[in-house]
Amino acid sequence: MKEDIYVGVLQNIESLIEGETDLVAVMSTMACELYHAFEHFNWVGFYRRVDERTLKVGPYQGRHGCLAIHIGEGVCGKCAREGETQIENDVSAIPHHIACSDDTKSEMVIPIKDGEGNVRAVLDIDSTEINSFDEIDQEYLKRIGEYLSERCT
Ligand code: SME
Repeated sequence: MKEDIYVGVLQNIESLIEGETDLVAVMSTMACELYHAFEHFNWVGFYRRVDERTLKVGPYQGRHGCLAIHIGEGVCGKCAREGETQIENDVSAIPHHIACSDDTKSEMVIPIKDGEGNVRAVLDIDSTEINSFDEIDQEYLKRIGEYLSERCT
């Protein structure tokens, strides 16, 4: 069931961004396709690394997302600092969670790296359900992230 939806999302994104090199256009399309694919996703979007210390919000779908996050802070900042995917299946259990919405119960953040392995952005997904994220989400969101990494020169 979930895997079938991801296969469809991947195919849609692949065809929609084919030949497109503009990062904002690609990020916007990815956020839209993912957000509308899963009812329990209440926020899907990107934070872009704008300098050594700061992430700024990029294209997203959902209600208000905080505009800036310091590297190392929140789930997004931790992902950017460590360069590793973060899965928090109960955000009420982690003190470092930055709550942009009370509806969020679980969260997954994927690092977007360039060819040198530098984190250039993170893909952040919030869910209204606890325990939303598993290895299937990890596999497909990683692949979607790679479409963006290929375009990060
Ligand atoms: N919850 C994130 C902040 C961004 S909102 O989810 C859009 C965090 O803890 O980093």
